[in-house]
Order: sequence, then C-alpha cells, then structure tokens
Amino acid sequence: MMTSNCLPHQVRELLLIAREAGDTHSLALWEGLHLGYTESQGHPELLKEIAATYSAAVTHDHLLEVVPEEGIFIAMSCLLAPADEVIVTWPAYQSLYEVARARGANVRRWEASGSVYERQTFDVGALEALITEAGGRVKLIVVNFPHNPTGASLSPDELTRLIGLARHAGAWLFSDEMYRGLELGALPPLPSVCELYEKGVALSGMSKVYALPGLRIGWLACRASHFIQQARTYKDYTTICGSAPSQVLALIGMRHRVSLVARSKAIAAEGLAATVAFCEKHSDKFVFHPPDAGPVAYLAIKQGARGEALTAADAQAYSERLVRQTGVMLISGAMFEAEEPFLRLGFAKAGYAARLAAWEATFETVVLPGREATA
Ligand SMILES: Cc1ncc(COP(=O)(O)O)c(C=O)c1O
Repeated sequence: MMTSNCLPHQVRELLLIAREAGDTHSLALWEGLHLGYTESQGHPELLKEIAATYSAAVTHDHLLEVVPEEGIFIAMSCLLAPADEVIVTWPAYQSLYEVARARGANVRRWEASGSVYERQTFDVGALEALITEAGGRVKLIVVNFPHNPTGASLSPDELTRLIGLARHAGAWLFSDEMYRGLELGALPPLPSVCELYEKGVALSGMSKVYALPGLRIGWLACRASHFIQQARTYKDYTTICGSAPSQVLALIGMRHRVSLVARSKAIAAEGLAATVAFCEKHSDKFVFHPPDAGPVAYLAIKQGARGEALTAADAQAYSERLVRQTGVMLISGAMFEAEEPFLRLGFAKAGYAARLAAWEATFETVVLPGREATA
C-alpha cells in the first residue's frame, strides 16, 4: 500500500485501447518501431499531443520530454546556484528539496498549516511572510499541487496570489503537477503554472494520472525558451533522449487520455471510499481528511490511552515493525520529513479493500504507537 501511482496498465491493454479506437496510426508506429536513439527534445508527435492538454499559449516548443524525477534534477540544476534562496511546500517529496540542497541553496519550508488532526492546507499568507523573511531575494519557489502526501490543493484565487508573489519577487516557480488531473471531487483541475506565469516551470508525466509509471515518461513545460534550451542541453548529460518504445506507448496513452483518466479516477474513487469507511470504523485510531486530489491518503495516528503526544518517529518505528513482521508496507510521514505521526497509504490499487483488511488483521499483533499499555 506504499506506492503513489494508480493501478498500472498492461501493454496489451494500451494496444487494445488503440485497436478498439481504430488508431491505426499509433499501432503502425508501434509495429514499425526502430530501436534507435530518439529526438532529444522528445517524440514530436508526443510533444504535440502533450501541448494540446495546455492552453494555446503553450506549444510543443515549450516542452522537454524527461523522466519525471529527472525533470526535477534538471530544472533545479539549471536554475540554482550556491546560496540561492529556495522556498518549498512542506512536507515534501524528497527530491523537491534535496536537489536544491545539493546545489548549495538555502531551503525554507512553506509548511502546511493545521495541527496534526486538522485538514492540512497551504496558507499563501505564510508564503508571503517567508519571501519577506528571505529579504525578497528568492530565486525559486517550489510547489506541488495537488500535494503529495497531504492531498491538499489551492483554490484558483490562491494560485493567482501565489503567482503574483512569485512575479513580484522575480522568482522562478517550479510546479510539480504530477497529480494534476486526478481531482477527486467535482472541482476542475487548476490551470498549469506554465500557462499563467512566464517564469513558471511545470512538471508532469505519465506516471500518476495516466497510470503508466513504467514508461518513465514525463515533461517539463515552460514558456521561457531559454530555460527549455538550457534544460535540453543539460539532458545530454543525464539520459540524452527518451526510450523509443516508451514514447510510442505514451503517445497511445495521450491520444486516448480521456479513457485513461476516467479509469484512474474510478479506481481512485473506489479506493478513497474504502479508506473513508475504514477510518470511520477505526475512528479511535486514526484521523483522516480525504484529499482534494491524488491517489494517497494521509492518516494521522490518534493519541493512545496514555495521552502522550506521538511523533513522526513513532509512526516510522510502527511502519518498520509492520513490514518486518507482516509484510504490510505503509509509508510514514517521516519519509517526507513531517514531524507528526502520519501514515501514507496509496489507495488506487487492485485489491485495495483486501489489503486494508490484511492491515486490519495485524492490529492485534503489531500494536499502533501509544497503545502498548492497553495491548
Ligand atoms: C510529487 C512527486 N513528484 C515527482 C515524482 C516522480 O515521478 P516518477 O516516479 O514517475 O519519476 C513523484 C513520484 O512519486 C511524486 O510523488
């Protein structure tokens, strides 16, 4: 239950989708594929298909195909120098701050507000205070909405304010949008930062929303041509170009994205409902606020009978005991450098209800933190 993607597709399922849609063009590309080097910027047809998911101001020239994780590395390597000031949404996916730290940047945390048992949200006023604290000299603001692990997002107004702050500070804005499009309620996705801000760099990819993480295909999107050019040059020292088979499969995925996204949303909705029911049943143990978007649940472990405050270290020790003794694997908030006792579950999985039941069956033998005295 540890991963953050939706149940991945099989190759034959993708090819079947293309066949049933009469997409002979994609199928011919697949059958006739040469396993040579590919174009460094990305497969031209794939880039066009990706560009069609953004507003008209963003064209295929504004895109660079990358492995998603590589996109974080390349963007930060290009944008940052030692002693630069960087602000990052917190808790955070590790490479969103570690790559900046490795570049010698000074990383400030834009922390989710709300106590451990409240809904986690990001207050744009707190970001403004951090920019002031940095003396306005912020080189890069790194955000991740919808957010992993809390599932929090921003309202359109908050996003507009955030961009106003970045523009005023002259800062680049790196927006990890890997979960954009996997909104779970009726809300539409937020606009992409690359559509709204000339120094906005968006990261997206096939791994989460399209349920194709094994392709290792993602992209950077930015309207500042010199940034895309620089990132493309940097890529000569990482992967040079994308994998030819993955590109064609990604092209099929993007051409038929409506059905892929619908599948991901249906699986995620089912997993979310099961998580809500599970947490209601175990309301003595967990507090859970459903995410705005994304396939992960962030559960806070409630205090036990003795009432002492629990920490991320307690959650981490529990998750380690759990996997060692039972093979059930959850991620604790400590993995995101959170300080509170959170556990993260990926709920867009095959057989997820059975996995929850398997976890529930361990409660007697692997006791949750704070409950040792009552065991
Ligand atoms: C917030 C976030 N950004 C980036 C990535 C990297 O994506 P990938 O694993 O496809 O390289 C992940 C993967 O879990 C993620 O959760």
